[in-house]
Amino acid sequence: TEFDTVIHGGRVATASDLFDADIGIIDGRIAAINENIAGGGRRIDATGKLVMPGGIEAHAHIAQESSAGLMTADDYYSGSVSAAFGGNSSFIPFAAQHRGQSIADVIATYDGRAAPNSVLDYSYHLIISDPSASVLEELPGVFARGITSFKVFMTYDLMNIGDGGMLDILTVAKQHGALTMVHAENNDMLKWMNKRFAAAGLTAPKYHAVSRPELAEEEAINRAVSLAKLVDAPLFIVHVSTSGGAAIVQREKLAGTKLFAETCPQYLALTRDDLDRPGMEGAKFICSPPVRDKATQDALWRHVQSGTFESVSSDHAPYRFDATGKFANGADAPYPKIANGMPGIAMRLPYLFSEGVVKGRITLQQFVSLSSTGAAKTFGMAKKGAIAPGFDADIAIWDPEACRTATLADQHDNMNYSPFEGMQIEGWPVLTMNRGDIIVENGELKADRGRGRFVPRKPVDLTGKPGYRAKELDPAQNFGAEIAP
Ligand code: URP
Ligand code: ZN
Ligand code: ZN
Ligand code: ZN
Repeated sequence: TEFDTVIHGGRVATASDLFDADIGIIDGRIAAINENIAGGGRRIDATGKLVMPGGIEAHAHIAQESSAGLMTADDYYSGSVSAAFGGNSSFIPFAAQHRGQSIADVIATYDGRAAPNSVLDYSYHLIISDPSASVLEELPGVFARGITSFKVFMTYDLMNIGDGGMLDILTVAKQHGALTMVHAENNDMLKWMNKRFAAAGLTAPKYHAVSRPELAEEEAINRAVSLAKLVDAPLFIVHVSTSGGAAIVQREKLAGTKLFAETCPQYLALTRDDLDRPGMEGAKFICSPPVRDKATQDALWRHVQSGTFESVSSDHAPYRFDATGKFANGADAPYPKIANGMPGIAMRLPYLFSEGVVKGRITLQQFVSLSSTGAAKTFGMAKKGAIAPGFDADIAIWDPEACRTATLADQHDNMNYSPFEGMQIEGWPVLTMNRGDIIVENGELKADRGRGRFVPRKPVDLTGKPGYRAKELDPAQNFGAEIAP
């Protein structure tokens, strides 16, 4: 056999195993995994390095307008480049519907943004903000294209679809094998808090965190899970930021509910004290849900350790620390008018490796699962997230001993600040590959704009999740006619 590329001398880590092996690649796919593979058009020396499935970033806002109309700082070029520098081989940003837009228009818009620009393979989660009858009719066509996850919001006035809207989406999603994702915060609790803070003149960035109580997330997660259970539809809770919210996920998983969830590095790394910095500096750390406290960090780490989360995702939502981003509504805007979100697509994996694996909180196998394999399985990327014959050669080579202090330059994005600035990071991705092409090597970009391909995804796999049957929807018990989806 003639291999296009051979990665030799490395230690291969997967979600299940750790072993020394060479990897032979043909036509962008892993063709052989063996102790000593000779030849190869190109030989990559991985001696002393870890060879892992490239990260799959499952939560990123790229070339996306917020509900207020503000465009993220990263497009599909800078966003994918930043992801690749951070050890990711593919990503799944959002294609966001704004109210009144047809879904066909949304998908065409994002295809136009992604296809000519992405250096990495990509898919989208479809955000639905307006579940009208005509929009619901379009969803099967979206699903048929391999876009098998839909996201909805329980907060933000222009995005929030209400409980009835959620039931409609959950029902259509279930019928097609799609996974509904949800941003869970109680909108009215947040608005009530904002009103009271405004009346008291408390508008500095630090009040953002306290204006979004933990209870608002816990209530919304509980409600979202109840809605999903009523129709026995699968549900994915994005960016879980509270101990109480994670506990609901854990309890419901134990009960067999068709539930999945993620958390993000910022909830493990930062606290609300980071928003309490001189002047407007705290605006850099405004995201929703907000970062919490040390006790929450500890609790979330235990959930990461014990399997509550399928993945740790970045929620990369890049708005610059200037008038194009955070301060689009003025340099001293009150916190409700400061753009929500922070960059994280480059630092997600270095942070998780350093604080997780190097500090002994999680195993290397858990790291692979949380960074790549879990997202591939949950979101139906059939040929990604593993190092196995026939899979895409989506590989990240890590130097486990590299030590550095994180700086803005490490992000390689369009941002002008890093929330990770100054953190000590041990372990670093030194080579990222997607379908056998080297994307980043030793700090240099090697790939062309637009080489990334759209990845059609599979229906959600619910094996091992028996689900829930509401008695009141059981025709045998109550009314003799099938109305359950
Ligand atoms: O603060 C964040 N995460 N902004 C992005 C939009 C969202 O809520 O996901
Ligand atoms: Zn070798
Ligand atoms: Zn969100
Ligand atoms: Zn988000």
